[in-house]
Amino acid sequence: MVELLPSILSADFAHLADQIAAAERGGGTAIHVDVMDGHFVPNITIGPPVVKCLRRVTSLPLDCHLMIENPNEYIPAFAEAGANWLSVHYEACPHLHRSLQLIAHHGMKPGVVLNPATRVELILDILPMVHHVLIMSVNPGFGGQEFIGFSLDKIRRLAELRRELGLAFRIEVDGGVAHDTVAQIVQAGADLLVAGNAVFGAGCPEQDARSLLAAARKAANE
Ligand code: DX5
Ligand code: ZN
Repeated sequence: MVELLPSILSADFAHLADQIAAAERGGGTAIHVDVMDGHFVPNITIGPPVVKCLRRVTSLPLDCHLMIENPNEYIPAFAEAGANWLSVHYEACPHLHRSLQLIAHHGMKPGVVLNPATRVELILDILPMVHHVLIMSVNPGFGGQEFIGFSLDKIRRLAELRRELGLAFRIEVDGGVAHDTVAQIVQAGADLLVAGNAVFGAGCPEQDARSLLAAARKAANE
C-alpha cells in the first residue's frame, strides 16, 4: 500500500499544527521530520524539542530523518521526544549495525538512508534489521530540488532484493517527489513517498496532498 509522508521542511513553521492537520486531511499517514545539523548537510532545521511539540498535535507516526553527524548521541533524545520511526544515514554511521540496534532498543522503527551516490548493495547485510530504507533522490539539505533520475534504478534494485531475500522492509523515497515524478517512483517499487514542496509549496496542503496521493495510488493500481 502506497503512503504519503508530508515533509514539514516546506511547511510554514509558524503554523506547524495547522499545516500538519491539513496534510493529514489530505491523506498523509505519517509526518516526515527533517533534522539537519549544519555539518552533515549545509542547512540547520529542528531537533528533539520541536518533535516533542509535534507529538502533542498529531497522532500520526513521526518519521524523523536524521541528517546529522554522530546520530547515536541523539537517539535517546528523539525517543524521549516521541519519534516513532528514526532513520540514520549510511554515510554518517561508521557503526551502522550498532546505530540500528540502538534505535530499536529505544522502541523506535529503525531506518537507513542512502545518499544518491551510495549503492544499495552496501546495506545488504543489515536489511533484515530495518523497518524502512530511505532512498534519497536529491542530495539532502534542501526542499524543492529536482529528482535525480537514476534513483529509479536504485528503487528497482532494492525492490528486487526485498523479493529475493523475502523481507518486508518499506521502500521510502525522499526528494523531488511531485506530480510529474510520482508515477515512475511508485512503479519502480517505492511505497513510502515523502513530499515537501509538492504538498506545502503552493499553500494548499490538503488539496495538494490529496491529488498527489491519488496520482500515486493510480500508478500503483490501488
Ligand atoms: C531534503 C529532505 C526532504 C525534503 C524533500 O534533504 O530530506 O525531506 O523535505 O523536499 P521536496 O519534496 O521538496 O523535494
Ligand atoms: Zn527527509
